Amino acid sequence: MTLEVIDRHMAINVRGSLLLMRAFAERVSDPSAPRRIVIFTSGPPQNGAIAYAASKGALEWITYSAATELGPRGVTVNAINPGPNQTGWMTPKIEQAAAKRTPLGRAGRPTDAAALVSFLLSEDAAFINGQVITSDGGHRIAGGSWPR
Ligand SMILES: NC(=O)c1ccc[n+]([C@@H]2O[C@H](COP(=O)([O-])OP(=O)(O)OC[C@H]3O[C@@H](n4cnc5c(N)ncnc54)[C@H](OP(=O)(O)O)[C@@H]3O)[C@@H](O)[C@H]2O)c1
Repeated sequence: MTLEVIDRHMAINVRGSLLLMRAFAERVSDPSAPRRIVIFTSGPPQNGAIAYAASKGALEWITYSAATELGPRGVTVNAINPGPNQTGWMTPKIEQAAAKRTPLGRAGRPTDAAALVSFLLSEDAAFINGQVITSDGGHRIAGGSWPR
């Protein structure tokens, strides 16, 4: 973990998200339009990736704080923890390890996370605000530590 790695995680995951959220909140003005922010976080522990973990922990608190600050403007803010998700980074070995640790017997797929985003953007989710929602097949509850 170098200074550069810490700063890069904070710059992209934390500062970048905050600036995007601010720009979004400044621009959305139509009160009849659904206004939703969905943040991607992750789950602890992140052995070997503490800078990443720090930035994702910050995003959780940003979710809670932004939900209270932007709620009066009609903007909901929620976060998703997608668990280990095969977006291209997993080797077959890592994917097998993730599947083994997951009660539902497989790693997440991008469509799993997309379905939750879609729900959070829907009218049915209009009253959900300031939540961190895990969609990981039970990976976290079954022990949580990440395959690497
Ligand atoms: N996959 C998992 O197992 C997993 C688990 C927990 C949480 N997450 C979280 O879910 C989110 C998506 O993960 P993923 O696996 O889909 O990641 P990914 O495949 O690496 O995609 C990351 C996305 O971020 C963009 N990006 C990267 N650096 C950027 C920068 N400096 N400025 C602007 N955009 C940048 C990339 O853009 P380009 O396509 O242009 O490069 C890409 O669209 C991330 O926040 C990740 O932390 C993922």
